Amino acid sequence: MTAVLRWADETEGGPAVVLLDQTRLPAHEEERWCRDVPALVGAIRELAVRGAPVLGLAGAYGVALAAARGDGVEAAAGELAEARPTAVNLRHGVERARAAWRAARPGDAAAAALGAARELHAEDARASAAMAGHGLELLTGLLPARAAGWRLLTHCNTGALVSGGGGTALAVVRAAHTAGRLERLWVDETRPLLQGARLTTWEAARWGLPHTLLADNAAGSLFAAGQVDAVLIGADRVSADGSVANKVGSYPLAVLARHHGVPFVVVAPVSTVDPDTARGADIIIEQRDAEEVTGTGDGRHAPAGVAVHNPAFDVTPPDLVSALVTERGTVGPMDARRLAAVCDGPRAT
Ligand code: MRU
Repeated sequence: MTAVLRWADETEGGPAVVLLDQTRLPAHEEERWCRDVPALVGAIRELAVRGAPVLGLAGAYGVALAAARGDGVEAAAGELAEARPTAVNLRHGVERARAAWRAARPGDAAAAALGAARELHAEDARASAAMAGHGLELLTGLLPARAAGWRLLTHCNTGALVSGGGGTALAVVRAAHTAGRLERLWVDETRPLLQGARLTTWEAARWGLPHTLLADNAAGSLFAAGQVDAVLIGADRVSADGSVANKVGSYPLAVLARHHGVPFVVVAPVSTVDPDTARGADIIIEQRDAEEVTGTGDGRHAPAGVAVHNPAFDVTPPDLVSALVTERGTVGPMDARRLAAVCDGPRAT
């Protein structure tokens, strides 16, 4: 697979941050070269690169790009950090590379920023592997053994496209498959930008996961029919009280899961936990353009000028979260004290 995000140096026409353009998947596997920070900020806003952990990497490499070009690093860091407001990893990634740049001697500062971004990249890959292991262990303890395996439902996209490694929730699903315990992955299409339909099905097919795509509003009848053993999702920010912001449509799944007695499991690195955001209500939810809801692709299906509500994320309260799987271990049941016990300490992205 084309690298989700990589650094290109002068030997191949860089400096540049090179992305696998996720707006073009699944039909086209194309690189998108970002040769300066405005280009990278545009790619982040358009969701050419998306998903919390890899946004942290984009932020860190973006700072390295500004430094390598001799552009204003402080201004670039500010623009990158504000490109999207909800995933806290973006800000962490920017801060990590900026701190390395600031701490270095002037002649070494660009290399220091790049070194920090590379370090973060490697840490993120290790975090994916650790989350996959912890997640599988959790599911094994939580779910009754079924001869045919588990039926897991996911929302949005949380695989290798969002990470320096295998991802978050989808990495756990893949571990379950490898262990011979996955009967079926139910993939929510994830309106309005179809990250499930476009990206998760693409990854699931590449990994050989048995999977079925459904319209988001078909999930309820699946639960009612007893066809869902657990829900696994990622997160863009977890506040100090354990509230989880994730792709819009996650909260209704948590309500359904509670009603039907099904575990609702969140998988995210500790870099997604934000001790500076006290409660779920404090998480800034990105509002996106009306056109994402009024049409798909080239066609518009809603009347021109209709008022639109298009939040990119929603917030699930801690009491609906059965467990949070991190690379450091699992928090469950979710509450502020348990969360702090697992997540306090030095962070990666
Ligand atoms: O708007 P997106 O596509 O960036 O939203 C991504 C999600 O909501 C993911 O579920 C989240 O970042 C977790 S991925 C580890």
